Formats: sequence, structure tokens, C-alpha cells
Amino acid sequence: MRKAVCGLLILLSLPAWAQQGVHPVTGRRYAGVMGPAGADWLVRPEREVEEQPDAALDAIGIAKGATVADVGAGAGYMTWRLAERVGPSGKVYANDIQQKMLDLLRRNMDQRKLANVETVLGALDDPKLPPGAIDLLLLVDVYHEFSEPQPMLRHIRESLKPDGRLVLLEYRAEDPQVPIRPEHKMTVAQAKAEVEPEGFRLDRVLETLPRQHILIFRKN
Ligand SMILES: C[S@@+](CC[C@H](N)C(=O)[O-])C[C@H]1O[C@@H](n2cnc3c(N)ncnc32)[C@H](O)[C@@H]1O
Repeated sequence: MRKAVCGLLILLSLPAWAQQGVHPVTGRRYAGVMGPAGADWLVRPEREVEEQPDAALDAIGIAKGATVADVGAGAGYMTWRLAERVGPSGKVYANDIQQKMLDLLRRNMDQRKLANVETVLGALDDPKLPPGAIDLLLLVDVYHEFSEPQPMLRHIRESLKPDGRLVLLEYRAEDPQVPIRPEHKMTVAQAKAEVEPEGFRLDRVLETLPRQHILIFRKN
């Protein structure tokens, strides 16, 4: 009993980053959530070379008029590209759990005069998107930060249309040369093992980007 109390006290005294959980299927340790201080880093000019966001969206294929969700949208680096691609007849739901990120995102959309973006403040376990409405749900450098990945994926599945796609971009954990902390990277095997049990199948893996996997899932 004394041992258990001591263990609990040690756990409670650890910094927040050290208290992250692990995924019950793979044992992968969840990454901490990037705070608003990271927003400048998300829009750094070098990102165009490192991540090639437009090439990523070309490879995924974004249809004019589509309804797209950018979950964990941050400052909107992918959102404004999605909004331009779906056009005025389409719609982008930009979700995040941090209102400060959504405020920055709104400013970035206003500067670009993009009126087809709706911001949605989500919860750690629920993106709060309308059911059966989404053609494509994008998670760019986000999934590894989910602290409640299983309920998140269940809600994500509900929000997708029957032929909707869930797309993850994750830094390659298989490649030690990719200069990102280990908990911010994933292997294809980890993503498949974690996402498929929540009612998805891994349809395609695209390896055309310099540092990230593009993982395309469909509903089972
Ligand atoms: C590394 S940033 C990436 C932002 C954006 N996708 C981009 O590529 O610029 C990760 C974002 O995911 C958000 N996030 C983490 N967990 C989340 C969750 N459960 N639901 C929604 N957003 C989440 C964080 O608040 C943060 O803004």
C-alpha cells in the first residue's frame, strides 16, 4: 500500500511531458501537445522544403467542392491550402483543442480572404464534427499527439461519409536521419496497428515526401 502511494506521488510530481500515456496496442508513447508558442514554427519558411505541403496535397488529391476536415489544424498551414483547393463551393472544418491556435488560424484565413473555413474547438477525445459529412479528414503531424487516440478515431469514423478518407502525415520513424524527436515520428506498422482496429483499413501508403509517410485509410 505504502509502495502504491509513493508511486502515485512520484507520478504526480513528474512534469506533464513525462506523464504522457502509451497506446494499449503498440506501446507507443504519446507525444505532448504543441502549445501556441510553437505556432511560429508551424509556419516557418523552411517547412515548404522539408514537408512540401503542396506536393502532399497533390498526391492525396483534393476535389473542388469537397468537404474537408483539418483536425489539429494549428495555425492553419494546411487549412488555407485546403480552402483554396476545395474552392467557394467546398468547405473546410478546421479543428483544434486550443482556442489560441484557432484564433491564429482565423487571422490567417482572414488575411487570405478565405470564407469557406469553419473553426471547431474539439475535445481531447472528440473532434466535434458533424456526422457523415466529411469527404477527407486530414491529420498532419497530429495523430502522434492524440492522448485519447481510440475515442478520437471512433468519432472521426462517424464524421466521415461512407467513402470518406482519413489521411495521416507522420514523420518516418523507420528513418533515423529524419531530424525529429522519436515520440513525434511513427512507423507505418504502428499506424496500421493502431488505426485499423477502430474500423479502418490502410488503403495506400505514399512515400513521395522527403520526411513523412502519407497514410490513406478508408472505412471498413
Ligand atoms: C504539431 S501541430 C500541427 C498543426 C497543423 N496540423 C500543421 O501541420 O501545421 C499539432 C496540433 O494538433 C493539436 N492537437 C493535439 N491533440 C489534439 C486533439 N486530440 N484534437 C485536436 N487537435 C489536437 C495541437 O493543439 C496542435 O495544434
